[in-house]
Amino acid sequence: MVTGGAGFIGSNFIRYLLKKTDFKGAIINVDKLTYAGNLENLIDIDQEFGKKRYFFERVDICDYDTLRKGFQKYKTDTIVHFAAESHVDRSIFGPRDFIETNIIGTFNLLEIAREGWQGRDDVLFHHISTDEVYGSLGKEGYFFETTPYNPNSPYSASKASSDHLVRAYHHTYGLPITLSNCSNNYGPYQFPEKLIPLMILNMLEEKPLPVYGDGKNIRDWLYVEDHASAVWTIMNRGKTGETYNIGGENEWENIKLVTVLCEKVAGKSSNPRDYYKKLITFVKDRPGHDRRYAINCDKIKEDLNWKQSVDFNEGLDKTIDWYLANKIWIANVQSGDYTKWIDMNYARRGSSFHTEMNNR
Ligand code: NAD
Ligand code: DAU
Repeated sequence: MVTGGAGFIGSNFIRYLLKKTDFKGAIINVDKLTYAGNLENLIDIDQEFGKKRYFFERVDICDYDTLRKGFQKYKTDTIVHFAAESHVDRSIFGPRDFIETNIIGTFNLLEIAREGWQGRDDVLFHHISTDEVYGSLGKEGYFFETTPYNPNSPYSASKASSDHLVRAYHHTYGLPITLSNCSNNYGPYQFPEKLIPLMILNMLEEKPLPVYGDGKNIRDWLYVEDHASAVWTIMNRGKTGETYNIGGENEWENIKLVTVLCEKVAGKSSNPRDYYKKLITFVKDRPGHDRRYAINCDKIKEDLNWKQSVDFNEGLDKTIDWYLANKIWIANVQSGDYTKWIDMNYARRGSSFHTEMNNR
């Protein structure tokens, strides 16, 4: 059972498992299809594997009874839990869904697994988490698996809470679990509210490129298929009860990343190299904006022999090319409430950073 398989990372994980590994089993994708869930992310998978090795059930993980029926119907022996509300900005303006899905939804899954698996050790609950649970770093240092939790946003606090529950179910009930905390993902099928796809789409429409605060916040970027391979590695070779950090070892200041994206998109068009840079607009910062994330992932590299395989230059090219080639996917995403949310988020940051600086 893959929860949240219609989202960005979940759909990439399903594709990776069915197309790029020696996995022989079947997958049931359990997804509520929120604004971020999109069955178009899996059309190719449904065509090739549907009703044979790939099944979809539209279920809200907060709906315990329906979830339990699905778990039993498919005789589930493994849960890979991606389903979550995942966008920090949305958690700031409307935290309730985050508490419900990320905490109560995870609790429901744990309860169903505990009841259904009763002492079995040939089963696994793998929980997908984030580096954001560790808080914010200064100029130096890294997040280790042993770094104390210090979440700063409603999103990261809800993820931290679910991580604690997962660990507690192992400690208390012996539920076979593994857990991973990953850094920022990018790649095809990412919902264009997140930094990289938002910037690409805004460039194509010649809209402002909103950079929060001074643009010097740092994120550690990992190509989504490398996240999928790391999760699959942990599921196969990880030690029960353990946490593994996953990261790109690839830190970028937001403003530098946006500048590179401008140059790359221009390079794929007939526009001059600096063409899109004029769209860069510094806007009001995200409240409580974590300054820097940087993952130390020596444990998964050394103990499980995993490593990243896609370098950033290649990964960004693949990502931009995917968005350029998938105009229908974009049009369909934009036909929902997408534009309303993006415009609202931008309006909230309406007073430009430059304007504020100039007025001082
Ligand atoms: P996403 O927002 O693209 O997808 C989330 C999916 O979960 C969607 O398909 C959505 O419909 C589904 N979902 C949401 N609420 C649900 C509910 N109540 N019941 C059933 N399904 C529900 O998110 P993503 O970026 O793919 O992230 C997936 C997971 O990875 C999340 O747990 C997130 O915290 C974690 N993560 C993300 C990143 C990143 O950079 N995106 C990095 C580290 C960890
Ligand atoms: O670190 C892992 C996390 O990465 C995941 O747990 C989250 O689910 C995922 O959304 C992501 O969180 P971030 O907040 O880091 O990602 P986001 O793409 O929203 O923002 C990346 C950085 O870019 C961050 O410093 C905020 C900044 N930003 C973002 C947007 C959307 C901007 O400057 N402008 C923007 O318009």
